[in-house]
Amino acid sequence: MVLRDKVVLVTGSSRGIGRAAGDAFATRGSIVVLNSRADVAAGEQAAHAIAERGGTADYLQADVSDQDDVNRLFDEIERRYGPVDILVNNAGRTESMPILESTAEHWRHMLNVNLMSTVLCSIRAARTMPAGGAIINTSSIRGFDANGREGVMAYSAAKAAVNNFTRTLAKELAPTIRVNAVAPGFVATSYMDRVEEPLRQSWLDNIPLREFITPEQIAEAYVYLAEAPYVTGTILTADAGFTLGHG
Ligand SMILES: NC(=O)c1ccc[n+]([C@@H]2O[C@H](COP(=O)([O-])OP(=O)(O)OC[C@H]3O[C@@H](n4cnc5c(N)ncnc54)[C@H](OP(=O)(O)O)[C@@H]3O)[C@@H](O)[C@H]2O)c1
Repeated sequence: MVLRDKVVLVTGSSRGIGRAAGDAFATRGSIVVLNSRADVAAGEQAAHAIAERGGTADYLQADVSDQDDVNRLFDEIERRYGPVDILVNNAGRTESMPILESTAEHWRHMLNVNLMSTVLCSIRAARTMPAGGAIINTSSIRGFDANGREGVMAYSAAKAAVNNFTRTLAKELAPTIRVNAVAPGFVATSYMDRVEEPLRQSWLDNIPLREFITPEQIAEAYVYLAEAPYVTGTILTADAGFTLGHG
């Protein structure tokens, strides 16, 4: 797909991978809509930075795990720019909680922010998305089989559901809309700054390519899936080899 002048919504794009994705689509001439739930100032600043570089970007606050907010977000995008051509479901959040301490509230929150956000935005987008459009979801290495991590079980289960949703939706929306996902490994976003050196090193020791992935690299994976007219139903693992296993 030619990305120039296409309307691209990247959810959860005030920082991290989503912000890099906004930059990547804007560089290709897309009309980019950035979004976040809480940090409005960071989202507006990200849109401003794209505009300063000559790109087209807007920012709209919405909690994409909330049905009313999702409707409001898409209605406003359609009013300003027309229907969304490319939806990048990037918003997500990890929270650690040992299983025996985990509460129903924790599980609901993890499922809402990681899975329901993807489901609600995909359904709303698909209702008006022009033929040839694309939906790109964000999974994680934690969503595959036994790669789920102890203490991060609700997040892992949500991402596993994102994988199934992606492949099943790809069947349901073919041949009109393509649906794919990226499953990142360890990406050097801001949380990495808070990780103690011994733990960082132990993660690196388990990554065959011995590198953390950059947000910009995941952004390029999103762009690839947006452009590739022959790819649907794929979960693109971008993990520097982590899921190959080690030793
Ligand atoms: N970083 C990694 O190593 C890694 C690995 C595998 C998968 N992933 C996945 O990649 C995606 C992005 O991760 P990241 O590391 O870039 O995260 P991040 O730096 O924490 O950024 C998350 C973004 O999502 C927004 N957000 C959170 N909840 C939202 C909601 N309910 N509605 C709208 N926006 C919301 C945040 O803004 P506000 O807080 O202001 O709302 C922020 O802009 C996530 O789906 C994550 O699970 C990341």
